[in-house]
Amino acid sequence: CMKGVILAGGFGTRLQPMTNVTNKHLLPVYDKPMIYYPIETLVSAGITDILIVTGSEHAGDFLNLLGDGENFGCNFTYKVQKDAGGIAAALALAENFAGRDSIAVILGDNIYDFDFKNSVENFDESGAEIFLKEVEDPKRFGVATIEKDIVTEIVEKPKNPKTNFAVTGIYFYNYLVWQVIEKIVPSERGEKEITDVNNWYIEHGLMRHRIIEEFWSDAGTPDSLLKSSNHIKNREK
Ligand code: G1P
Repeated sequence: CMKGVILAGGFGTRLQPMTNVTNKHLLPVYDKPMIYYPIETLVSAGITDILIVTGSEHAGDFLNLLGDGENFGCNFTYKVQKDAGGIAAALALAENFAGRDSIAVILGDNIYDFDFKNSVENFDESGAEIFLKEVEDPKRFGVATIEKDIVTEIVEKPKNPKTNFAVTGIYFYNYLVWQVIEKIVPSERGEKEITDVNNWYIEHGLMRHRIIEEFWSDAGTPDSLLKSSNHIKNREK
């Protein structure tokens, strides 16, 4: 069965000064703290064994807010990332938690309407799976090139995107991911990029993808945070 990992560290630089004294994932998206949404995404997909990776500074706030998971119908385990090192470096902290199981990794600022239940149940455990969404501003994201229904490459925040398909912040990986992360060399910004992990699976013919038609947004910038809040407000009406 699949386990879940929520990555909720980072400095939230793009949301300063709101993130000066708290963690980005504790800020409200309409009427709930941001991290409630990725939790609901995993739980409604049937994933109930969930590791939350946070930065050390606000780890206690997450514990106070979320507890052991009983109120969410799941089980939380916590892990603290002592220093920044990128999404893939944060994910590496989940190796012991996952063991030989496959994992669904979700970035704590990603808001979905899509129901991942079928994707979880049908996950091909010989590789990985990513979820793409057509967007108007692909430059802000990892962007996928698709040829004959196969993703041939992902470029992280390209200046001249080849397509409008953003790689959204949920990733399914089999047990190979731990060896892959070890091999990744930090990028120019000094981070182990999740895009490099995904490109490894692509190069080895082990990556599947699905295009999402339902609402998806990150909430890591003032504009996308507002957009997400407005969407949730309308959804709840
Ligand atoms: C990260 C990933 C990027 C992905 C995005 C989705 O970017 O690096 O590939 O498209 O999340 O939210 P970040 O928002 O951390 O810059």
